[in-house]
Amino acid sequence: MDGTVILGGTGFLGPHAAALALARSRAAGSFARPLGPPVWAVGRNPDDTPRYGTPRDGVEWVQRDLEPEGAVEALLEELRPKRVLNCAAMARVAACEQDPERAARLNVGVAGEAARWCGARGARLVHVSTDLVFGATEPPRPAGFREEDPPAPVSVYGDTKARGEAAVLEACSAALVVRLPLLFGDSGGRGLGASDGLVAAVDRGERPRLFVDEWRTPLEVTQAARALVECLGRSDTGLLHVAGSARTTRHALGLVILEEYGLPPDEARACLEESRQAEVATGGPRPPDTSLDAARARRRLKSPLDDPRTALRRALGGMAEAPGEGA
Ligand SMILES: NC(=O)c1ccc[n+]([C@@H]2O[C@H](COP(=O)([O-])OP(=O)(O)OC[C@H]3O[C@@H](n4cnc5c(N)ncnc54)[C@H](OP(=O)(O)O)[C@@H]3O)[C@@H](O)[C@H]2O)c1
Repeated sequence: MDGTVILGGTGFLGPHAAALALARSRAAGSFARPLGPPVWAVGRNPDDTPRYGTPRDGVEWVQRDLEPEGAVEALLEELRPKRVLNCAAMARVAACEQDPERAARLNVGVAGEAARWCGARGARLVHVSTDLVFGATEPPRPAGFREEDPPAPVSVYGDTKARGEAAVLEACSAALVVRLPLLFGDSGGRGLGASDGLVAAVDRGERPRLFVDEWRTPLEVTQAARALVECLGRSDTGLLHVAGSARTTRHALGLVILEEYGLPPDEARACLEESRQAEVATGGPRPPDTSLDAARARRRLKSPLDDPRTALRRALGGMAEAPGEGA
């Protein structure tokens, strides 16, 4: 058994994790195998996925539909990886509301299958979950929800992700489940995440409505990917909250994004319309506050977990660092 599989390697988060896992792998390369242990990135659409690695990308892209029962275990048995990062999901709230059965298959079934295989074979599993497992109640502390707080989702997405977490930890007690917050950053021109779509809309002359009463602890996508790759090389188990250091509203996040992309503060403010959750139909229930307290991750990980402005300055300035030691 060798190498790393990124399930869901073709989405918003996955390609960043694949590039960073490959960089990490290369550090263990030899003359005979310069790229080090293989990194496979799996999804249905690898040809449409941006490559964030070197021009001669060494990630091995695998085109596979994981929805049919048994598909995940068959793939893992074929590749026999030492490490598995599960980013595969039905990750859109509205899509999950429309098709709860498919949401359950991808967010619970696929996760459970990956965990069964990793548990049986002794492979390291890091499973990605979400802050939206919370939301039916206010955070019990100003810093946000901690790992020991009980999930209380308000949407099909949150409910299936919470059930996915439980399925993973039941099938593989050595797995780590990482809950991530709202992600923003580079999606390779695909308009994914909290910033690319916003910048494109403003570019088209639109005036997006952003909530002043929706609180999150957003994280830049390469920082999320870096932390996940670091976790792959560690042996922690259970739950871990990995989030940005600032609790902020969607509207405040939008302002920071536009300012860091070059607009003066007054112009950025004029580009956005302040809005409240109750005023807009968004295709699914939206919790007011799912802030995550990431104090435990900050103590354990070397990867940075910055506030949005600092993170965007690092990302846009290309201040790349190698993933933390130990991965
Ligand atoms: N984005 C956020 O703000 C955010 C916040 C918190 C947590 N998360 C979590 O982070 C993880 C990644 O999210 P993301 O934003 O990267 O989601 P995404 O862009 O929707 O990517 C989902 C991934 O799952 C794959 N997938 C879906 N159905 C599949 C199928 N039938 N067969 C094979 N692959 C399939 C997709 O591949 P194809 O489309 O190529 O099939 C894609 O690679 C998810 O677990 C999500 O819950 C995301």
